[in-house]
This record gives sequence, structure tokens and C-alpha cells, in this order.
Amino acid sequence: MHRICILFIVALFISTTCRLTESHHPGYSTVGNPHVPLDDDCALRAFIVEMAGYIAPTAWKMNWTELSQSAFQMNQCSNVSISNNTTTKLAKPFKTTPEIKETICYSRIFVHDFQGNDMFDGTFDRPKKTIQAALSLTRILRVTHGNEKTLCITIRGGTYYLGTNATTTSSQIGAIALTANDSNLVIENYQDERVVLSGGALLQLQWSIHAKTAAGGAIMKAQIPSFVNLDQFNELYIDDGRAIVAKYPNGDPATHGLYAKDPGFSYDSQSWIAPIFNPSTDIHVDKPYRNGTEFPNYQLGIGGGASVFNPPRNFWSTASPPAGSNYGVPQGFTVKNGALPHITNWSKPTTGFVHALHAGYWGSWVFEIASVDSAKNTIMFSRGGFQEARGSHSGGAFYVANIFEELDSPNEWFLDKSTRTLYFMPNETMPQVFVASQIPCLISISGSNDEDSANNILIRGLIFTQTSNTYMRDYMVPSGGDWAVHRGGTVYLTNTKTVTITRNLFTQLGSNGIALIDYNDASTITLNEFVWLADSAIILVGSTNGIDGFSVTSQPMNTLIESNLIHETGIYIKQSSPVLISVSRSISVIGNLMFNMPRAAININDGFYGNHTISYNVIFNTVRETSDHGPINSWDRQPFLTDAVQQGIPSLWQHTSYIHHNALFNNYRSVWPIDHDDGSCFYEDSYNFLVYGGKKNYLGHSKTDHHEIYVYADANQAGFGSNTCLGDYAPRRGFSGFNEIFRNNTCVLYSSSIPYNIDGCETSDLYIPLLMSNQIFIASGVEITFICKVKGTSTKLTLDQWNSYGVDLGTSVNTRPDIQYIIEWGRSILQLAE
Ligand SMILES: *[C@@H]1O[C@H](CO)[C@@H](O)[C@H](O)[C@H]1NC(C)=O
Ligand SMILES: *[C@@H]1O[C@H](CO)[C@@H](O)[C@H](O)[C@H]1NC(C)=O
Ligand SMILES: *[C@@H]1O[C@H](CO)[C@@H](O)[C@H](O)[C@H]1NC(C)=O
Ligand SMILES: *[C@@H]1O[C@H](CO)[C@@H](O)[C@H](O)[C@H]1NC(C)=O
Ligand SMILES: *[C@@H]1O[C@H](CO)[C@@H](O)[C@H](O)[C@H]1NC(C)=O
Ligand SMILES: *[C@@H]1O[C@H](CO)[C@@H](O)[C@H](O)[C@H]1NC(C)=O
Ligand SMILES: *[C@@H]1O[C@H](CO)[C@@H](O)[C@H](O)[C@H]1NC(C)=O
Ligand SMILES: *[C@@H]1O[C@H](CO)[C@@H](O)[C@H](O)[C@H]1NC(C)=O
Ligand SMILES: *[C@@H]1O[C@H](CO)[C@@H](O)[C@H](O)[C@H]1NC(C)=O
Ligand SMILES: *[C@@H]1O[C@H](CO)[C@@H](O)[C@H](O)[C@H]1NC(C)=O
Ligand SMILES: *[C@@H]1O[C@H](CO)[C@@H](O)[C@H](O)[C@H]1NC(C)=O
Repeated sequence: MHRICILFIVALFISTTCRLTESHHPGYSTVGNPHVPLDDDCALRAFIVEMAGYIAPTAWKMNWTELSQSAFQMNQCSNVSISNNTTTKLAKPFKTTPEIKETICYSRIFVHDFQGNDMFDGTFDRPKKTIQAALSLTRILRVTHGNEKTLCITIRGGTYYLGTNATTTSSQIGAIALTANDSNLVIENYQDERVVLSGGALLQLQWSIHAKTAAGGAIMKAQIPSFVNLDQFNELYIDDGRAIVAKYPNGDPATHGLYAKDPGFSYDSQSWIAPIFNPSTDIHVDKPYRNGTEFPNYQLGIGGGASVFNPPRNFWSTASPPAGSNYGVPQGFTVKNGALPHITNWSKPTTGFVHALHAGYWGSWVFEIASVDSAKNTIMFSRGGFQEARGSHSGGAFYVANIFEELDSPNEWFLDKSTRTLYFMPNETMPQVFVASQIPCLISISGSNDEDSANNILIRGLIFTQTSNTYMRDYMVPSGGDWAVHRGGTVYLTNTKTVTITRNLFTQLGSNGIALIDYNDASTITLNEFVWLADSAIILVGSTNGIDGFSVTSQPMNTLIESNLIHETGIYIKQSSPVLISVSRSISVIGNLMFNMPRAAININDGFYGNHTISYNVIFNTVRETSDHGPINSWDRQPFLTDAVQQGIPSLWQHTSYIHHNALFNNYRSVWPIDHDDGSCFYEDSYNFLVYGGKKNYLGHSKTDHHEIYVYADANQAGFGSNTCLGDYAPRRGFSGFNEIFRNNTCVLYSSSIPYNIDGCETSDLYIPLLMSNQIFIASGVEITFICKVKGTSTKLTLDQWNSYGVDLGTSVNTRPDIQYIIEWGRSILQLAE
């Protein structure tokens, strides 16, 4: 498949920040683009870094700048002269998200793990010991003071091991479980004190040496106390990091991956054992249907092969899904001889998991191992493969984890559940703190329904960490995109109104960060940092009654996600993203910095309702481990009824969504900066600064692109894509490609002469986007070439000839200027905007 092209490694410089977590790894392959000179690439990277500082909240300017420099390997650029000819002095200060005002607490209850006692009254001097006890006290106070008063739980510094003896292991019910009766509540840290909420249990262990290794190290062992729930102990946290489940090939899944020189994956599969076709019951709604699209009908497969999901349904499980094939995953696979050198020694292979990429690198799967035939190098799977929704007959790169005989490298661990023995191989230094994950969800806010919702709750200033992983838990297919999603998270919200989550750190987590599930109106997620997450950072997943999202309002709506820093997501789940929007209304994603992730940063899984705004985000280092995608991705394959078009009237079409003023840098395997994939309709994309890729339209319609700046649209690293300013794929009259507008854009081609790739272009029968007033720049000495058929023959046209067919009027072609001029254009749209 698309094997990653590794150029060279660089030692990265160290930047340390107190609160914001570092994000550089030795062993990363270069972020640099081999198709353009280093000077140009560096200048563009420097501008993206500048933009990260520009959108950063005031107190974080240095931190966001330094982190971006590090993640962008700016040390490669140390001897490249980067002009400082900036208009920054003229720049309008970026309006970052307003701080949440200090709350007036009717009553404040203090919690202090160290000095507290649950028998105390919760005053500053006599604090409660646990948050749960403080919550119980608020419920008692509400009996006398009523539900309308805002009560505050103020937590003193310390680590609260919420996983210890936890009574719930659900990923939808937290250790701190709020209901509608807990409306008007604040849970916050005290002043600047460091409050850590851990989903684990602190282990006090008696270590002894199990075995010495040839290299002079040792495998240590210890007994796990009986209060630890072994079923939930699937992540071991050491000091402030995550230990590595014994694996082959070696490598830390958090810092190695397909983007790294040393990926920790093997490419040596030989063959995959095809899925057994297990038909589902087809649901196909004939009426209502939407015309004017390749995807007119609501359809779904139920049961059969879709039974691996909960609920047991999948858009891709119909007999013949539109633009795809029936979902199924391999039953097992065979590796090349020697690809798993210790396979003959595996004493209990059924403890193991196979993590594998989908054959098209559209996502990843995790399977339990059912059996191994070491003579044939064959591994058969049992449960798993539901972590993405498309399925495939074969997989790609893989690794094997959680097998005792693979414990052979520092910081690897293995838990023998039958003897309650933990094995761990330290490097030169034994960690001080060992924490066993015990629960995936720390705080849940669950109203009873959309009328009895949990309202006005503020979560501020906390550190969420050390939770159980959820990749073998229930996944579901939310709509007709490619995504399957685990509908759980570290902070889980359902049936809420005006919940605010601000200034928290989500770090070292086994699950998603924040899950907004079903009805959640006016949630605000601002000024948080998300880093080192196994899955996605923020998921918004609503429900409908089949096609009906009109009379059912069980969706996230009017959500504001602003000024967050999101990086190092998708450690295990490669089809994951900082922000997933699915079956949701009016979601705003503004001024966030996102980098280092396996797939898109923002994925819009369907055309439900629309009216989303994605603006002023700075996004780079995306699609590092997958393929055929971009920093922002959208799909619209499954229609739903909503009142988007006109209030009170059901319609299958959505409101326009707006993508503007983002700085998107297409490196690694990103193909299109904004990937409007299958069927995407009703988008207005404008004033974005888009590096290394062009516009994409595939099987959709009614999108407008204006005042965009495409920089070196022909120079993406992925090795495929149209390499043009505009890729208009497979337009079909009456189905796709109509109402498409591409005007007043600036597009710079680095070396290509061809600005557009318009499938089926025929001058006698033009069916192409409305092109006008674009400014195209090409390398000097290159002849611009518009390609279209003239009387059935593909012909190269000059601008005048192209214009003579009445298209692209007002468009100019000029020699491309120096990179610094191009960057100035970027500054002027992004930093001088009204
Ligand atoms: C930013 O970094 C500085 C030091 O580099 C640190 O003192 C400060 O706390 C950080 N700010 C935030 C908001 O994390
Ligand atoms: C930087 O300059 C040094 C010395 O001239 C040279 O060896 C090195 O290759 C240069 N590095 C880059 C990234 O251009
Ligand atoms: C900007 O350029 C000027 C003149 O070339 C130089 O003196 C100055 O050090 C530069 N500033 C920065 C921050 O690079
Ligand atoms: C600096 O930017 C200004 C404004 O875009 C431009 O006119 C000027 O030529 C630039 N100078 C250099 C040296 O790039
Ligand atoms: C957890 O339960 C065990 C066994 O019941 C008990 O010894 C221990 O004190 C409990 N720990 C906490 C923090 O409650
Ligand atoms: C909320 O409080 C009411 C009245 O005390 C009670 O009947 C109800 O069960 C509570 N709901 C929840 C979800 O706790
Ligand atoms: C959809 O159907 C209506 C009514 O038949 C027709 O007027 C309209 O042109 C169709 N739209 C498209 C895009 O085909
Ligand atoms: C298998 O285990 C035996 C005994 O520990 C060891 O001698 C041998 O090298 C191992 N073989 C492989 C392939 O790991
Ligand atoms: C040893 O492992 C710890 C994590 O336990 C890590 O922080 C440290 O950097 C490692 N040391 C070396 C030399 O790799
Ligand atoms: C669209 O979203 C905006 C917030 O971005 C909101 O104010 C407005 O009410 C929404 N409009 C509709 C029709 O939903
Ligand atoms: C689009 O570009 C044309 C030609 O440069 C210009 O006349 C027109 O005002 C522009 N339109 C907008 C909305 O900027």
C-alpha cells in the first residue's frame, strides 16, 4: 500500500512548558516537503507557527509558538533565512474566547484529599476528602435551598484516584456522576492548585526480579493487590507517562507510528483471510428521498455483519452500499516467514491483540487473537475490527500486543491475570509511581431527557488522566461517513444545556476526551489542552429515529469549541480526530490549534442539519498514519430529515456550513486541505490559507470557494490527488457537480502548468463549476494549460482559448512571486480581517 516515505531523522530541540505538554519525539520522520525547496517549506512552516501564536490566548502565546516550532521541526530551518517582513504590527489582535466569568457561589464546598475528611462540613478549614462526598453534600443543601442556587465544589491540590474501588466501569457513567438534579453546579480547582483526577488506582508494589535480560536489564514482577479490578487494568501509567503493553515490533505507540523512522509496525503481512459474508437486513427508505445527489435514500443494514456494532447497524452493511462495498473484516492473516520471530514461543497467544491498518489506510482495527498456527505463521481473530465502519478484505501494517513472550524492551509490561502478576521491564531507572487504569469515565453529566436536562454546569481547571482504554468496548456507526465511534469519553455529556468545560488538561487517556452524546444544547469547550489520547479528543454524536431528525432533537447543538490546544491524539485508534461532528447542529470550531494526529483534525461525518462554522483554526501534521484524506474532511452519504432549510418544515437538505480563515498545512499524507468527500454539499469555504493541495469536489454539489489562497497546490507529499488548484471529480448532471463556484481565489502552482482537473470537461457541452476572477500563478517559463475536450479530443488550451468558451472570465495568469509575497497575502487575509 502507500508505504511511508522516510527521508531522514532529526534530533529535535527541547522545549519545556509547565502546563502545556511537550510534543516532540526522537524518531519522527521529517515534516518537510521534498517537492519544494527547503527555504520555501521553512518559510511556510514559519508562517503557520506565527499563526499559531497569533490565534493563541494571550497567556499561551509563547507556549503555542514553542510547541508548534517543535512539532514542525523548525530546527531544520535554522540556517534558512526567513524574512521577518511582516505586517504583524498592523495586525488586528485576534479576539480569543472570553474567559468564563468568576461564578457567584451560593455555597462553596471544599475538597482536600490530603487534609480532608468526609465527616467534615466542607468549609475551607474542614474540607471533605472526596469529591463524591462533596457532591452528596450539595444534594443535601439543595433540599433546603432549592435547585436554582449555584453551588460550587472547589478542589484543593492533589491527586484524586477516582478509579480506586470504583463502582462503575462504564464509559458513559463517571466516577463523579451528575444528573439533572445537579444543575447549577461548579466543579473547579482552588486558585492555581494542581488538581489531578486519575481514572486509575495507585499501586504500592513489592518488586522482585523475574528474569535478567541478555542486554543486562531485568524483567521485574509484582503481585497486584486484590482490590484492583484486573478487567479494567488495561493501561499501566508510570510516573506521568504510559507504559507499553508488551508488543512486537517494539516501539511506543504514543511516540512511534507510521510517521516515524522506527514505526513500531510491521509491513510483513503475507495474506489476509477474507471475511465471511454475513448479510444484514437492508433498510431502504424510498420516500422521502432527495433528488440531485448520488446519495438520495436513507439506507442501513441491520444485524448480520453489522452485529459487531452496538447498536447492530451500519450504513456499510447493506448488500450494496452506495459508493462502497459491504462491511466485513478479515478473519485472520498470515505473516511472512520470520515476520513474528517469537511466534513459536507464544505460550498463551489468546491474551494478545492484533492492531492493523485497514488496507486502504482509512482507519485501523484491533482484534483479539483466537488462535495461532505458528507452523503456518497464521493468526486467527475473534472479536474486533469494528473500530471503523468500512471494512475491507485485507489489512495493512500491523503490530501484535499483550503477549508475555514479547516483553523484551524497556517500559513494556504484561499482566498475567491468572496469577495477578504484573511484569515490567524498566530502563535504567525504575519509575516511582505505578498506576493501574480502572475506569474510562471520570465525570458524567446525564440529564434524563431533553426536557429534564442537566443545566448550567461548569467544569474548570482540572487535570483528567490515567483512564482505561476503550478500544474493545462498544463502537457504533453514527451515520454514513467512514467512522465508527465509541460513544463514551473521559467527560461524558448527554441531555445537558449550557455546560461549560474550560481550562482543563486532558492527558494520558484511554478513551475519547469529551463525548457530547445526543441532546446537548449550548455546550462551551474552551481553553483546554488535549494531549496523548488513545482515541479522539472531542466527539459530538447525535441520534435520530431512522431518517427522522426532525421530530427528534436528540443531537448536540449550538456547541462552541474555541481556543483549545489538541495534539497527539489517536494513539491506538487511527480513525479518530481532535473533533468529530456527527448528527449535530450548528457546531462552531474556532481558533483552535491542532497538530500530530493519524487522520483528519476535524471530521464532519454527514450532512445532518449543517450550519457549522470552522474558522481561525491552525492545523498541521495531520493524516500521519492513514491515507486519502485531509486536515478537514466531510461526507454526506446518508440523508436525514431536519428543519434546516426552513423552520417547521422537514427537509432532507441542510443549511450551509462555513469554513473560513483557517491556516491548513497539508503535510505527511494529507492530500486535500479541505477534503469535501463523497456527496458533501452546501459549504462556503473562504479566506483560508491552504498549503500544498487544492480544492476537492467529489460527488457533491452546491459549494462555493472564494478568496482562498492555495499555495503550491500541486506539491502535496501524499503522492496522489489531483495536484491542481481544483479537482472536480466525476460530476454527473442531476446528481453532482452543480451549483459549484470557484471564484476570486488565488492559486499558486509550484511547477505544474495545469490549474484544473475537471472530469468530463467538454467545450461543446460544458458542465463545470462556475469559474471566474481567479488569480493563477505559475513558475516562470511554464505555459499555462487548461485541459478540456474540444469535439471529443482532449486539448490543451491557453487562457484566451479557455475564456473563449465563456468560462473563467476575469481570471489572470502570472508568474509566481517569491514565497514571502505569498505569505504576505496570507497575513493580509488572516491577520487583517474585519
Ligand atoms: C507557558 O510556558 C511557561 C514557561 O515556558 C510556563 O511558565 C507557563 O505556565 C505556561 N503557560 C501555560 C498557560 O501553560
Ligand atoms: C545548514 O548549514 C550547514 C553548514 O553550512 C549545512 O551543512 C547543513 O546542511 C545546512 N542545513 C540545512 C538544513 O540546510
Ligand atoms: C528582522 O530583520 C531585521 C533587519 O533585517 C533584523 O535586524 C532583525 O533582527 C530581524 N528580527 C527578527 C525577529 O528576526
Ligand atoms: C514586504 O512586504 C510588503 C507588503 O506586502 C511588500 O510590498 C514588500 O515588497 C516586502 N518586502 C520584501 C523584501 O519581501
Ligand atoms: C479499596 O478497597 C480495599 C479493599 O476493600 C480497601 O482495603 C481500601 O482501603 C480501599 N481503598 C480506598 C481508597 O477506598
Ligand atoms: C431528582 O430528584 C427527584 C426529587 O427528589 C427524584 O425523584 C429523582 O429520582 C431524582 N433524579 C435523579 C436522576 O436522581
Ligand atoms: C429535483 O426534483 C424537482 C422536481 O421534480 C426538479 O424540479 C428539480 O430540478 C430536481 N433537482 C435536481 C437537482 O435534479
Ligand atoms: C524460545 O524460548 C526459549 C526458551 O526460553 C529460548 O531459548 C528461545 O531462544 C526462544 N525462541 C525464540 C524464537 O524466541
Ligand atoms: C526511562 O523510562 C522513563 C519512563 O519510565 C522515561 O521517562 C525516561 O526518559 C527513560 N530513560 C531513558 C534513558 O530512555
Ligand atoms: C447557526 O449557527 C449560529 C452560531 O454559529 C447560530 O447563532 C444560529 O442560530 C444558527 N442558525 C440556525 C438556523 O440554526
Ligand atoms: C472578484 O474579483 C474580481 C476581479 O478581480 C473583482 O472585480 C471583484 O470585485 C471580486 N469580487 C469580490 C467579491 O471580491
